[in-house]
Amino acid sequence: MKITEIEIADLRPGKFVSQKVAEISAAVGTGLAVNALSGGVDSSAVTMLGHKALGDRLKSYFIDNGLMREGEPQRIRTLFEQMGVPIEIIDAKQKFFTALKGITDPEAKREAITQAFYQDVFGSLVKESGARHLLQGTNYTDVEETVAGIKRQHNILEQLGINTEETYGYKVIEPLIQLRKSGIRKVAKALGLPEEIYTRPPFPGPALAARVIGELTPERVETVREATTVVEEELCSMSAFQYLAILHEDRVTGIRNGKRDYGLQIEVRCWNSKDAITGSPTRLPYETLDKLAQRITTEVPGVVSVTYNITKKPPSTIEAI
Ligand code: XMP
Repeated sequence: MKITEIEIADLRPGKFVSQKVAEISAAVGTGLAVNALSGGVDSSAVTMLGHKALGDRLKSYFIDNGLMREGEPQRIRTLFEQMGVPIEIIDAKQKFFTALKGITDPEAKREAITQAFYQDVFGSLVKESGARHLLQGTNYTDVEETVAGIKRQHNILEQLGINTEETYGYKVIEPLIQLRKSGIRKVAKALGLPEEIYTRPPFPGPALAARVIGELTPERVETVREATTVVEEELCSMSAFQYLAILHEDRVTGIRNGKRDYGLQIEVRCWNSKDAITGSPTRLPYETLDKLAQRITTEVPGVVSVTYNITKKPPSTIEAI
């Protein structure tokens, strides 16, 4: 399938919304559809488009894969319920950690997440609900990066030659696939989503798994989750494109209570970018860096070292995995 990008200058958000609502209605017909809400701007926009098109024939799930940020599943469910969109939280933590056990290679982790998501979790949800369609918020950059062989974005299926109907038992509808993030923000605003959603920094589909180098265990994810809370609190006022904490695999010698502590390392990244294709680190004030190091080493158990990444994309990517 050839996808044509809709550039931001050509996007008419109101018209785009009516067109996509009509297309979703036509594709699903009188049947049911499901979608996964993660709280990011893409999946939030898709949830609203689906809700407008299908009403209660859309079943929206928040998949709690154990890789989300602190308090996220409940917070996002409450926010959508206030807008009249019911969300069911699915506890899939065990399934994801089992699928990820022992895997350290980045692309193998991404593949395990894709399979756990589409085959295991959604395979059974679709079967149980009788739905034939899955709506998801794949965007133009996701397709581009996967097809270029940079990273296997978790949500790219058809463009890699996967027939979802044959493989998983449902068709995938991707209403945002012609847009980049800046266009999706405009559509999200036109859909009436709150500002905290349409201005939200991007968050990757594989969630905190994209930020843990080495094996994913509940304990290691908890470390990066706690560091993420600090980083988001300290950097949310910097007008950056995206900011994140990464847990390294290597340990380093540190000192705690006057004794040697062979501890954990957290790397902080804070990006300037327009569309995530290229990026550069923001020039954070030294006081901010200092506060990050102070807070992370005191508030996140086991961390003795905090670094700030000064590399551009490329050759770096935004996430670590
Ligand atoms: P990278 O790390 O490839 O990230 O420079 C570019 C942008 O995409 C986000 N990202 C993802 N989003 N599924 C997604 O939906 C994924 O598998 C995925 N991997 C990275 C990343 O957070 C950044 O905004």
